Amino acid sequence: FTLTQYLIEQRRRFPDASGDFNALILDVALACKAIASAVAMGELGSTAPADVAVNVQGEVQKPMDVISNTTFIRVNEWGGHCAGMASEEMEGPYQIPAQHPRGKYLLVFDPLDGSSNIDVNITVGTIFSILRSPNPGSEAKVEDFLQPGTQQVCAGFALYGPSTIMVLTTGNGVDGFTLDRDIGEFVLTHPHMTIPAETQEFAINASNARFWEPPVKRYVDECLAGATGPRDKDFNMRWIASMVAEAHRILMRGGVFMYPKDTKDPSKPGRLRLMYEANPISMLI
Ligand code: AHG
Ligand code: MN
Ligand code: MN
Repeated sequence: FTLTQYLIEQRRRFPDASGDFNALILDVALACKAIASAVAMGELGSTAPADVAVNVQGEVQKPMDVISNTTFIRVNEWGGHCAGMASEEMEGPYQIPAQHPRGKYLLVFDPLDGSSNIDVNITVGTIFSILRSPNPGSEAKVEDFLQPGTQQVCAGFALYGPSTIMVLTTGNGVDGFTLDRDIGEFVLTHPHMTIPAETQEFAINASNARFWEPPVKRYVDECLAGATGPRDKDFNMRWIASMVAEAHRILMRGGVFMYPKDTKDPSKPGRLRLMYEANPISMLI
């Protein structure tokens, strides 16, 4: 089953669907394939350095952050499915250029999650979320994007690891597709992904321990106490610094990922962004 076949099959359950949603997902998948191939080139791929800056979160962009952002926009702006887009790497909503039709969906994304890992060849990914525009066909305003996570129509990610995997939900289960590079298609390899109930693993950046709130500290202390503590069991700790990779591991193998509020920098109590990171991963989980 390719992603295209899967989408056609799913659409048969909604005879009145226009096909816009499927077309949008295929564009998102194409963008992810393009980013996968750029990421896989590593140092060989960087010709002209991208015009990097400091993004609205105050983080210094990597060239691949900018390249991935541009790729995602270029591939998704022309099809007529989006009323607008918003990205971790852009300050305000991205308006669909006048020469393209505007559609009914809002596309929200983190073009390259875990990009601090890019220079050391460790897994990164793209996270996306699709919302309905309250004003289909018209220019997307900031307020249009400020919807609760429960309103998401679809959420997913692509993971650029040893293999490229795309994981997707429309609210009816979670399915995973592996990119077959020879035929250029995502193939359904992980139908109905379910998180195992039992786990040995937890993931948190323990260097922030002294800035955590007491309940978080107590919970992690209990995990660290292992078989000699109240949880009666030894755990392993993991930290990839790519939430998208941790989320995928948890979908496959169970566990918990935490980036709790901390007091390290009082102006930034949370590390992860609600719209681009927490909401889509929450919908998948
Ligand atoms: P991004 O690369 O998009 O800025 O996000 C990275 C996020 C998340 O994916 C990861 O778990 C976390 O930041 C890593 O934070 P530390 O640098 O504190 O480890
Ligand atoms: Mn991110
Ligand atoms: Mn990012």
